[in-house]
Amino acid sequence: HVHFRTPGAEQKEDWLTGSKAALAGGVTTVFDMPNTNPPTINRQNLELKRNLVKEKSLINYGFYAGAALDNLNEVKNFEDVVAIKIYMGSSTGNLLVDDLAVLEGFVSEAKPILAIHAESEACLEHTLSEFKGEFTPSIHSKLRPPRCAEEALRNILNLALKYKKRIHICHCSTELELKVVDEFLNRGFPKELITIEVTPHHLFLSDKIYESLGNFARVNPPLRSESDRLAMWKGIENGLVTMIATDHAPHLKSEKEQEYLKAPSGLTGVQTMLPLLLNAVNENKLSILDIANLNSFAPAKSFNVASKGLIEVGYDADLAVIDLDKLWTIKNENIYSKCGWTPFANMNVKGRVEKTLVNGNLMFDYIDGINDYFGDHLGSEVTFSR
Ligand code: NCD
Ligand code: ZN
Ligand code: ZN
Repeated sequence: HVHFRTPGAEQKEDWLTGSKAALAGGVTTVFDMPNTNPPTINRQNLELKRNLVKEKSLINYGFYAGAALDNLNEVKNFEDVVAIKIYMGSSTGNLLVDDLAVLEGFVSEAKPILAIHAESEACLEHTLSEFKGEFTPSIHSKLRPPRCAEEALRNILNLALKYKKRIHICHCSTELELKVVDEFLNRGFPKELITIEVTPHHLFLSDKIYESLGNFARVNPPLRSESDRLAMWKGIENGLVTMIATDHAPHLKSEKEQEYLKAPSGLTGVQTMLPLLLNAVNENKLSILDIANLNSFAPAKSFNVASKGLIEVGYDADLAVIDLDKLWTIKNENIYSKCGWTPFANMNVKGRVEKTLVNGNLMFDYIDGINDYFGDHLGSEVTFSR
């Protein structure tokens, strides 16, 4: 789950810088979100993006289509997308489906999987209108409270239950959401119809971090309480969480340095996810096999990606070579993303990516974190076995 900003916002990221960030983080395939400019909401814009990416990507990739109020007929039969992303609440860009009737149309008629940004626009608007106080970065979490995620999730799951529709929940961040999913499963919602994704920032950061990061901690859904953070780990432990995905959404330092109301939401993450998880292995929070499942096998299986997710004959040689014992410090100067910053700066981690292979080609070789080797083979688009 990445926002590589092509086309339309290449000042924040382009496919070369995004590819390098991914490779340095041991990531061999990304699925790109549709909130680009123009947005990926019709055949023409999808092909436009595809043609640009094909010439530049050093990693493998797939594309999400985006839902809009008026494009159901345009996208409902797409077979060459990972899923259709539905923004139930506003975030970066102007994709928004806040109309329940339109939402029901997508759930009942669209063939692709629906990937949901579950924050209710009505709830967000109401919360903002009631808010009295000063607009500082730390109120971001209060302006997008857990109940707004809960409300959106209930709405989409009610529809999905009615039409037996396959749903993917993007960036799940609260204990409340996991409870709602549990409740629906108990009411007979088929487990195979729902997959849940959690981000590294919701696993490793909480709303305590605004003090030091300010707008550099501003993201949608927002960072949550410490107990919500621990609930995400619980969800991984008990198997309710299907996968870990970055929601890599770069913005420029200059944009983040503006006052709260002007600063955009989104964090980088594609380069730091695997090191943070390796560190967690060293802290006995999960196993290497858990990472292989959460970052590779489960996403490939959930989205029916052909020949990926396993190391086996017949599968693509997309591999990360890691040193589980290497101690190092995450630094902004080592971030290959064009925006050049990470919310995890100055964290000490144990575990580093040494080499990354894509389709059997050596594409990243660690040298010193600044002058590393990058290969020049182009990646390819994933295919689906459905
Ligand atoms: C994303 C972005 O900047 O594109 N931002 C974010 O905070 N996650 C948009 C999104 O998917 O919400
Ligand atoms: Zn989102
Ligand atoms: Zn996103």
